[in-house]
Amino acid sequence: MKQEIETIQTDALEAIGAASDEKSLDDARVAFLGKKGRLTAASAGMKDLSKEEKPVMGQLLNAARQAITSAIEAKQASLADEADKKSVQGIDLTLPSRPLPAGAIHPLTQVKDHAIQVLRRMGFALAEGPEIETEFHCFDALNTPEDQPARNEKDTFYFDSGKLLRTHTSSVQIRTMEKATPPVRIIAPGSAYRRDEIDATHLSVFNQLEGLYVDTDVKLGDLKGTLEFFLRSMFGDDTEVRFRPHFFPFTEPSFEIDIKLHAKGQEPKWIEIAGCGMVDPAVFESLCEVRGDDVFSPDKVTGYAFGMGIDRLAMIKWGIRDIRLLIENDVRFLKRFA
Ligand code: DAH
Repeated sequence: MKQEIETIQTDALEAIGAASDEKSLDDARVAFLGKKGRLTAASAGMKDLSKEEKPVMGQLLNAARQAITSAIEAKQASLADEADKKSVQGIDLTLPSRPLPAGAIHPLTQVKDHAIQVLRRMGFALAEGPEIETEFHCFDALNTPEDQPARNEKDTFYFDSGKLLRTHTSSVQIRTMEKATPPVRIIAPGSAYRRDEIDATHLSVFNQLEGLYVDTDVKLGDLKGTLEFFLRSMFGDDTEVRFRPHFFPFTEPSFEIDIKLHAKGQEPKWIEIAGCGMVDPAVFESLCEVRGDDVFSPDKVTGYAFGMGIDRLAMIKWGIRDIRLLIENDVRFLKRFA
């Protein structure tokens, strides 16, 4: 039997060596290791062996099966290798590949990310609110009376349900304070909607960044310092910043913030960049009513808020004259920011 096993192994290795493709290799496998293969048949002879011979032969059989199996595997690998080589014959693998145009971050996203990065470093957390808002969150809770022009149907997109597309991200101030307890220090970037005539400086969908800080002792000086630092981080250390008294229903006092722009070939000029102010006590009072507690009582807390257009930040940063360029996705324009 030992002789027989050796012959089978020799024959098998020869057949495997001679196999020139997958099919003949598989035929060889079946012929030797298959259910009716020669090695399988030889192992059937084990049952006639003596007790002493059995383990010896068993070992020989196993060794032969292993030798044949690994020869098959090695042959399989070398056949696959040959097939690979054949498949690229005549192809010049050293040719440079076609260039894949790399994408880039949209300028609006770049500005937004930069602003978030600066403000987060100062301790502001990101907050969100719905774009389909209630009149309450967009206006009433922000101390904006019924007859305010901003609430007009001509200026605001209303749904039949009475809800509306938020006209500013200031609604997130209310959404946040309804749930949180002071101190609150958040920023809320997001879309806002107005029924504006579309032109070089107006879109009906645009992007804002809201900020709110409420604590036991927040002062106007904190607001000024924070926004000056923020604007200098965005536009350069030597940026001049000016606070101009203004009116917003939800802050008192309120300001518009200007920065001085030095455009090439032009006289430097002040341009408006954001609105801000100290949260109006009326806003806190309405919150206390809604919440049914007094953690936001104007006797206990003060706060500041600010809001600005992200599109506008981008336009000023790069001297973009027409806001529509930011949404047209013309690659020739976007390439400037890649
Ligand atoms: N919501 C105002 C707007 O859309 C901007 C604004 C002004 C936001 C003053 C504020 C603020 O938080 O305090 O024009």
